[in-house]
Parts: sequence; C-alpha cells; structure tokens
Amino acid sequence: MKIMESIMAFLGVAGFASTVCLALFALFNVIFHGGYNPNLPADVPVKPAVVSNAVNAGKDSSGVASPKKPEIIKVAGAAGPQYVDPPVRTAKEQAGVEQAVAALKQSIKNMDLERAIYHPLHFKPNIAKASNEECLVCHTEIMTRKPRQTSPAGVNADNVLAWYQTLDTYKGKQESFHFRHLSSDFAKQTMNLSCNFCHKGNDPREETPDMQPGQKIFSTSATPNFTLRKMVNPSTTCLRCHGKFPVEVMEGVEGTWPKARVDMEDEETPNGCLTCHEESFRTNRHHVSYLKAASIEKLAKKSSDVCYGCHGGRQWYRNSYPYPRHPWPDMDEETPDWAKNRPTKSEPEYQLKNTAAK
Ligand code: HEC
Ligand code: HEC
Ligand code: HEC
Ligand code: HEC
Ligand code: HEC
Repeated sequence: MKIMESIMAFLGVAGFASTVCLALFALFNVIFHGGYNPNLPADVPVKPAVVSNAVNAGKDSSGVASPKKPEIIKVAGAAGPQYVDPPVRTAKEQAGVEQAVAALKQSIKNMDLERAIYHPLHFKPNIAKASNEECLVCHTEIMTRKPRQTSPAGVNADNVLAWYQTLDTYKGKQESFHFRHLSSDFAKQTMNLSCNFCHKGNDPREETPDMQPGQKIFSTSATPNFTLRKMVNPSTTCLRCHGKFPVEVMEGVEGTWPKARVDMEDEETPNGCLTCHEESFRTNRHHVSYLKAASIEKLAKKSSDVCYGCHGGRQWYRNSYPYPRHPWPDMDEETPDWAKNRPTKSEPEYQLKNTAAK
C-alpha cells in the first residue's frame, strides 16, 4: 500500500509539472512563433500545391506509388549536396503487390476473427515485406476513420488549436493520427511511410516484446519491435521526427528556435535553418527510403517550419533523436565530443542506393 501511495503521489506531481510545462511551452510558442507576429516572413503560408504535384502525381491516398521518374535537386554546383526522393515502384514490383493482394484476399475468405488477429502477416519475418495494400485488405478503417467533431465534454474540434498546429505547414481540420502520417498533403510531400516502418510485429494479447509469436521468450533485442504495452517502438520511430530541437550542438543558435529565428529570418531569408544547412553543415542528409529528400528541400525554401516541424516543432519528447552524422564536404576533420558515438550512416534497411550518401 505504502509503495502504491508514493507512486500515486509522484505521478500526481509529475502530471501537474508536465501540465504546467506544456502550458508554458504552448504560451511561448504562441508568443514567439504563432501566426500572431505579422512581421515574421516565415508566417507566410507555404503553398504546397505548387510544389507537390511533380512528386505526388503518381501517388494515391494510401501513399502508394505508381512508376514515375524521381527528381534530383542540386543545391550548390556539381560538387554540392544532392537530394533525391526515394524511387517509386517499378511496374514489376507493382504487379507483385497486386498479385500478393489477390492471393491474400483469396486465402482469408471465411477466416474467423481469432485467426485474422494472429494472421502471420502481422509478425516477423512476413511483416517486413508486407506492402501497405496487403495490410489494408483487412484494415481499411485506418485510412477512412475520422475523429470526433465534438469532444464528449462538448468542445468543438474546430474551435481549438494546439501549439503544434500553429506551424505554417499545418493544414485542414482535426484528423486521425494515421491520416496525418499517410494521407495529409504535407505527409505525402515530405514522407514515404509504410505500415511496417512503425509496425514491426506485436502480440495483441501479451503486449510485451519478451513474448511474441515465433520467438523464444525473453530473447528480444535491445531495440525491440515495440515496447511494453505499445504497438510500436517510439525510440526508433516517433523520436526521429518528434524530438527536441538539438540546439546544444548548433554553434550560433541561442536558446529556442522560436526566439533565435527572429534575428535570422526576413523576407529574403524565410528559412533561417538554411543559412547554415544549405551549404555549410550536415548537407548530406535525408537519404532514406521513408523521407522525400528532394521535396523537403524544395518546400523548405519557403519556410523553416518545414524543417523545424520534424526537428522540434512537434516535440513530444524531452530528448532528441541521435541522428547519424553523415560526412559532408568541407567538414571539420575533428569529431566533436558529442558526436563520438554517433553512427556515420543511416540504418542499412533505410539507406537509399545510388544517391549522394556513400
Ligand atoms: C487477415 C486480415 C488482416 C491482415 C492481412 C492484417 N491484419 Fe492487422 N489485425 C487484424 C484483426 C482482425 C485485428 C484485431 C482487430 C481488433 O481486435 O479489433 C488486427 C489487429 C492489428 C493491430 C492491433 C494489434 C493490437 O495490439 O491490438 C495492428 C497494429 C495491426 N493489426 C496491424 C497490421 C499491419 C501493419 C498489417 C500488415 C502487415 C496487418 N495488420 C495485416 C486483421 C488483419
Ligand atoms: C508513423 C507510425 C505509424 C504508421 C506509418 C502506421 N501506424 Fe498504425 N499505429 C501506430 C501507432 C502509434 C498506433 C497506436 C498504438 C497504441 O495505441 O499503442 C497504431 C495503431 C494501429 C492499429 C490498431 C489501433 C487502431 O487504431 O485501430 C492498427 C490496426 C494499425 N495501426 C494499422 C496500421 C496500418 C494498416 C498502417 C499502414 C496503412 C499503419 N498502421 C501505419 C503507428 C503507425
Ligand atoms: C518521418 C517523420 C515522422 C515520424 C517517424 C512520426 N511522425 Fe508524427 N508527424 C510527422 C509530421 C510531418 C506530422 C504533421 C503532419 C501534417 O501536418 O499533416 C506529424 C504529426 C503528428 C501528430 C499530430 C496529429 C494531429 O492531429 O495534428 C501526432 C500526434 C504525431 N505526429 C505522433 C507521432 C507518433 C506517436 C509517432 C510514432 C509512432 C510519429 N508521430 C512518428 C512526422 C513524423
Ligand atoms: C547558426 C547555424 C545553424 C542554424 C541557424 C541551424 N543549425 Fe542545425 N546545426 C548547426 C550545426 C553547426 C550543427 C552541428 C554540425 C556538426 O555535426 O558538427 C547542426 C546540427 C543539426 C542537426 C543534427 C543534430 C544531431 O544531433 O546530429 C539537425 C537535425 C539540425 N541541425 C537541424 C536544424 C534545423 C531544423 C534548423 C532550423 C530550425 C537549424 N538546424 C538551424 C548549425 C545551425
Ligand atoms: C518529415 C520530417 C523531416 C523534415 C521535414 C526534415 N527532416 Fe531532417 N531529418 C529527419 C529524419 C527522420 C532524419 C534522420 C535520417 C537518417 O537517419 O539518416 C533527419 C536528419 C537530419 C539531419 C542530420 C543529417 C545527417 O548527418 O544525417 C539534419 C542536419 C537535418 N535533418 C536537418 C533538416 C533540415 C535543415 C530540414 C529542412 C530543410 C529538415 N531536416 C527537414 C526528418 C525530417
């Protein structure tokens, strides 16, 4: 009992403290960053439609690609960085997917719920190769579900604006989590996420990575498919795009970005990040299959909220993702202390072949 009481007391305090922090953070964002300062050129909304067409023309609402030539964005001369969107499916790959979908539909006729819940496609090794279309044979609700128009307490969704929704890139009304990562205009322009980027197999009954179908108990790795009682592993998924702005490694940036950007941005320079990141630092970035590197750079010309959105602007965590540190042209030969343990390449499963990332 004693222990339970102290845990409850602690949770109470922690809960209160984090509420206060969130409230302060929200206020801060409104003051320094929200659409309330008409002098900030970064607040001029990005017009995504202009930029998106070339890249998204071949995509449907499930984020599924049809064949189209990827675009290469060159930044600073031939020797400078190059950004390429991931390749879209070839006709042969597309045919393979359609075949797999047809076979799956055939095989699950009359399947009962219990068997469907434990369908082998949910688990390793099958899930690693599953296409979105295969998952969606049984999970159409993921693409179609809408959030409530009014909360149970009667608050209309249209009347509330969370701090992260004040980013220039945020468009449209309240939508579901899956919509915001697979179907929103901004998601389709900047990301190429698949179901199995986040879902790598979880047992809906045990809810622990130590007990999964087809795996010896207590043999899970240090970076499991998912963490206790969750369906994904946030450290290898969410944290990449929802961590803290890593200001402590950025010489020349003081304090928070909403504060720092005020002195760095004007009408000619709507993206202060690019002052340093266009040519000078870490220009070898985003060469991974789940991002659209070229489209990101194109969009980002108009607003730093494009960059900040994935690097602090929607911060759900107190820490930052330990990004790999890809060597870039003219980088200092000495590795700073904070970077000594950093990988110098993205994880092999996400690396793009035949791009500037060597
Ligand atoms: C044969 C149909 C079928 C296929 C194919 C399928 N699922 Fe499922 N899945 C189900 C059913 C049924 C449930 C249980 C739903 C419920 O309990 O309401 C489920 C549950 C889930 C859950 C929730 C698990 C939990 O812990 O509660 C996730 C996540 C999931 N599926 C993801 C996927 C992904 C990703 C794919 C593709 C790799 C996929 N599913 C393919 C039928 C399927
Ligand atoms: C950006 C990461 C991400 C992507 C991409 C993603 N999911 Fe999810 N999914 C989640 C998270 C997080 C949850 C909620 C987990 C929890 O409640 O613990 C979830 C929950 C689910 C659930 C069960 C709960 C529910 O909402 O019904 C299903 C089924 C599911 N996802 C299927 C899919 C399918 C199918 C796809 C691909 C079309 C997909 N997901 C893509 C992260 C993702
Ligand atoms: C590759 C980058 C990326 C990853 C990985 C990612 N997100 Fe996001 N997330 C985004 C972007 C970009 C948006 C904004 C989309 C938009 O504006 O339409 C977003 C929006 C959101 C929102 C706001 C939804 C709303 O209603 O406005 C939530 C909540 C969220 N993400 C949670 C998560 C969680 C939880 C995970 C891990 C399971 C995750 N994200 C993984 C990039 C990512
Ligand atoms: C005054 C220059 C400057 C500005 C402005 C700036 N950065 Fe940086 N940034 C740096 C430097 C320097 C590094 C570290 C380079 C290295 O690896 O040695 C860095 C590193 C990073 C990293 C990698 C962090 C890590 O832990 O590996 C990210 C991500 C990043 N910046 C994003 C941004 C974004 C997004 C913005 C704008 C919102 C921005 N930066 C603005 C100078 C800047
Ligand atoms: C949709 C989300 C998203 C957007 C938009 C985005 N980033 Fe990133 N960024 C990431 C992810 C995820 C990684 C890690 C990729 C990897 O593992 O190689 C990353 C990596 C980086 C790195 C580390 C580079 C290295 O050495 O590998 C820097 C610097 C960076 N981003 C800066 C920026 C800047 C500047 C912008 C705007 C021009 C931007 N990001 C826009 C998600 C995003």
